[in-house]
Amino acid sequence: MQLLASLAFAAIGFSSAAASSLWVTEAPAYVRPYLIERFAPAQAVAVGPQIYRFPVTGPSSGGAFSLISTAAPSSGDLGVLPHLHQTHYENFFCLKGGFQVWADKDDVGVNEARKLTVGDFGAVPSNTTHTFQLTEPNSEMTGVIQPGGFEDLFFAIATSNYTAPTMSPFNYTAWNASTGAGGDASEISALEAFDVYAQLDFIPRRDFVNGTAPSTSVWHDGPNELANDSSTPYFVAADYGPKYLYKGSAYEIVQPLITPLQGNGSFTMGTLTLSRPLNGSIPASITLANHTAFQVIEGGLTMEMSGETNTLFTGDVAFIPGGTAFAYWSLGVFAKVLYIGAGSETLDQLLLKNATSWEFAVFPTNY
Ligand SMILES: *[C@@H]1O[C@H](CO)[C@@H](O)[C@H](O)[C@H]1NC(C)=O
Ligand SMILES: *[C@@H]1O[C@H](CO)[C@@H](O)[C@H](O)[C@H]1NC(C)=O
Ligand SMILES: *[C@@H]1O[C@H](CO)[C@@H](O)[C@H](O)[C@H]1NC(C)=O
Ligand SMILES: *[C@@H]1O[C@H](CO)[C@@H](O)[C@H](O)[C@H]1NC(C)=O
Ligand SMILES: *[C@@H]1O[C@H](CO)[C@@H](O)[C@H](O)[C@H]1NC(C)=O
Ligand SMILES: *[C@@H]1O[C@H](CO)[C@@H](O)[C@H](O)[C@H]1NC(C)=O
Ligand SMILES: *[C@@H]1O[C@H](CO)[C@@H](O)[C@H](O)[C@H]1NC(C)=O
Ligand SMILES: *[C@@H]1O[C@H](CO)[C@@H](O)[C@H](O)[C@H]1NC(C)=O
Ligand SMILES: *[C@@H]1O[C@H](CO)[C@@H](O)[C@H](O)[C@H]1NC(C)=O
Ligand SMILES: *[C@@H]1O[C@H](CO)[C@@H](O)[C@H](O)[C@H]1NC(C)=O
Repeated sequence: MQLLASLAFAAIGFSSAAASSLWVTEAPAYVRPYLIERFAPAQAVAVGPQIYRFPVTGPSSGGAFSLISTAAPSSGDLGVLPHLHQTHYENFFCLKGGFQVWADKDDVGVNEARKLTVGDFGAVPSNTTHTFQLTEPNSEMTGVIQPGGFEDLFFAIATSNYTAPTMSPFNYTAWNASTGAGGDASEISALEAFDVYAQLDFIPRRDFVNGTAPSTSVWHDGPNELANDSSTPYFVAADYGPKYLYKGSAYEIVQPLITPLQGNGSFTMGTLTLSRPLNGSIPASITLANHTAFQVIEGGLTMEMSGETNTLFTGDVAFIPGGTAFAYWSLGVFAKVLYIGAGSETLDQLLLKNATSWEFAVFPTNY
C-alpha cells in the first residue's frame, strides 16, 4: 500500500509527505528518523553551476556527519580552488557521471589524482590539500563529511538559492564550460572560520593515464586497499575494494570504504550489495546504538522504520537515529546502497562479525 501510494504521488508530482510521516523535503533541524527524496527541493543552493543539496546535516545527525549532494555539468575548470580542512574528514563518492579528485599530503608522501566514475570513492582526511573537477555532462557527487555541520560553508558562499519547479538536478542555463565554480582567491582565503584553508600554491597534476595520476597507481585494474591509519588519503575503485559476504535473510556483500581504523572511531562508510530476501524469510529488525544513513545507489530499497514501510530509489536517503529499530531489503533482484554510520559500533561492523571474505561484486548463484 505504501509503495502504491508513494508511486502515485511521485507520478503526479506531489511530495510523498502527505502519505507518510517519514518523508521530508528538508533535513530536520533535530535528530529523528526520516527519508528524503533525491533532488528534494529545500535548502538547495547554487555555487556557480553546481547545485548543492543537504540530505543529512549537522543538526539532523546530532553533529555526527553531513551527507551533501552536488549535481553539476562538466566544467573546463576546477570545481573549487585547492584547500584543506584542519578538522573535517571528507569523502567523495561518485553517484553519477564522473569527476576528478586530487589529494595531496606531504607528511604521508601522497600526491595523487583519480578520475572517479560511478561507484568510485576517494577518502580525504583532515589536513589533505584537495580539489575536484566535474568531467561529465550530468554528474552527482555524494560528499560525506565528518563531523557534521560542514553545510554551513555552502549556505555562506552560495551564489543563489536554487528552486526549480521541475526539480531539475541543476540549472543548464547557468552552464558555461569556460567558467568554473572555483571562486576567487580572496573569497576562498576568507573561509577559515568554516575550516577551509586555501592552498593556492598547489598545482593539480594533469598527467592522468587511464584515470589515474601517477599512471603507476592501481586504478580499475587491480585491488585497492584502505589506508592503515586515519590520516592517509586513498582511493577505492567501484568493486575493487575489500569484500565480505553476509548471509542473513538475504545475501549482503559488505564493501567497507571507511572502517573504524580510517574513521578514527568516529564513523564508518561503505556499500551493501543486496539480493532479494531468501524464500519466505523475513528481514531481521536491527537497532544500533548510533546514527546510520543510507543512500540508494542502485535499484530499490524497502525500509521498515517507525511503523511504516517505504521504498527508496537511487539517490534517496534514509536517516536512522541510534536506538531506532529498522529493517531493510532489496525491492528487486539486486540493490546497492551506501551506508554511513556514526561511532564505531556501526551496521557494517555488526554484519562483518558473521561475514566471510568474498572476492566478487555479485552474490552467489545459490542460497
Ligand atoms: C591539522 O593541522 C593543524 C595545523 O597544523 C593541526 O592543529 C591539527 O591538529 C591537524 N589535524 C589533525 C587531525 O592532525
Ligand atoms: C537563501 O535563502 C535564505 C533563507 O530564505 C536566505 O537567508 C539567504 O540569504 C538566501 N541566499 C541567497 C544566496 O540568496
Ligand atoms: C538559471 O540560470 C539563469 C542564468 O544564470 C538564471 O537567470 C535563472 O534564474 C536560473 N534559474 C533557476 C531556476 O535557478
Ligand atoms: C561564458 O564564459 C565566457 C568566458 O568567460 C564569456 O565570454 C561568456 O560571456 C560566458 N557566457 C555566458 C552565457 O555566461
Ligand atoms: C591503459 O589502459 C589500456 C587498456 O586497458 C592498457 O592497454 C594500457 O597499458 C594502460 N596504460 C597504462 C599506462 O597503464
Ligand atoms: C596495511 O598493513 C598491512 C599489514 O601490515 C599490509 O599488508 C598492507 O599492505 C598495508 N596497506 C597499506 C595500504 O599500506
Ligand atoms: C583520533 O582521535 C583521537 C581522540 O580519540 C585524537 O586525539 C586524534 O587526533 C585523532 N586522529 C586523527 C588523525 O584525527
Ligand atoms: C522458493 O519457493 C518456491 C515455492 O515454494 C520453490 O518452488 C522454490 O524452490 C524455492 N526456492 C528456494 C531457493 O528455496
Ligand atoms: C556516536 O558517534 C559519535 C561520533 O560520530 C560519538 O561521538 C558518540 O559518542 C557516539 N554515540 C554513541 C551512543 O555511541
Ligand atoms: C551472528 O551469528 C550469531 C551466532 O550464530 C547470531 O547469534 C547473531 O544473531 C548473528 N548476527 C547477525 C547480525 O547476523
